[in-house]
Amino acid sequence: MSETLLQVTGLKKYFNVGKKQILKAVDDVSFSIEKGKTLGLVGESGCGKTTVGRTLLRIYEPDGGTILFDGQDISHVSKQKSRELTKKMQMIFQDPYASLNPFFTVGEIVAEGLQIHKICKSRAEERERVNELLTMVGLSKDHANRFPHEFSGGQRQRVGIARALALDPEFIVCDEAISALDVSIQAQVVNMLMEFQRELGLTYLFIAHDLSMVRHIADQTAVMYLGTLVEYGDTNEVYSHPVHPYTQGLLSAVPVADPDYEKTHQRIPMDGEVGSPINPKPGCRFCGRCRKATDICRTETPVLRDMGGGHRAACHNV
Ligand SMILES: Nc1ncnc2c1ncn2[C@@H]1O[C@H](COP(=O)(O)OP(=O)(O)OP(=O)(O)O)[C@@H](O)[C@H]1O
Ligand SMILES: [Mg+2]
Repeated sequence: MSETLLQVTGLKKYFNVGKKQILKAVDDVSFSIEKGKTLGLVGESGCGKTTVGRTLLRIYEPDGGTILFDGQDISHVSKQKSRELTKKMQMIFQDPYASLNPFFTVGEIVAEGLQIHKICKSRAEERERVNELLTMVGLSKDHANRFPHEFSGGQRQRVGIARALALDPEFIVCDEAISALDVSIQAQVVNMLMEFQRELGLTYLFIAHDLSMVRHIADQTAVMYLGTLVEYGDTNEVYSHPVHPYTQGLLSAVPVADPDYEKTHQRIPMDGEVGSPINPKPGCRFCGRCRKATDICRTETPVLRDMGGGHRAACHNV
């Protein structure tokens, strides 16, 4: 039996951006992730992916909805409890350079969490754990004394992963963790993440622009548009039978390395404005760009409906 690690219901995160201007970065988003599995979260820049990740990790206080982690409601917790949660929930960032303190050695960076949470009983034990973590991510203990600028982008991301693994977490948000890396290095890092998942039973929220990488790593995929989920289901289903016009458009823009396919394949254009998450109007947020939009789309907000087998889409016309 599979167990749910994370159950998110009706999550909202709003930002006040001026007089009566409310930016609805995440607006009524629901999904769940099973233990040891990966949910891919895709969508255009600014649609709210990072905000979902940061709200789950309680960097942001949610403005509505509930987050159940291992059955426990963590939507609103004390500072103390939130510190404890950071042991179980970690994040890997897009830009490994900006997210690593340049004045700390790699050893100090990886050890920081161990020290904050007083995990090791002695300096020697700490050093040993740091060496173990560096080895796990394909670096060596000699790297511990060097500074982030002495590493390549791929190596720096390995340091970021070692830091995230230091506290033995159960859940990791990988926010564009590979987007800044060379294509060849991307595959190495993704394979490493998948290996850790198998070995350590980790659960991931994998945020990415690159749809083909998400197909490779994610068991389930959620497609986000302007703060809302428009489609969600098993990755194979979503990729082979996308039902929401937005998902269809996104997927049709992905290049496929097959000349025959490219000859017959049609790109679905997505014209019009992306729209604004500030004071959004009722109705479907994609409707201004949608080929299939009808009157109801302009007035009624569609909700995610099951199309069969847990494949859900929020569209009035499917
Ligand atoms: N702290 C903040 N204050 C105000 N607005 C914010 C804040 N953080 C994010 N936003 C806004 O919320 C929306 C969603 O931002 P978010 O960073 O979650 O998008 P994203 O999908 O991660 O984009 P990208 O793919 O570019 O990383 C954007 O309109 C952004 O400007
Ligand atoms: Mg982001």
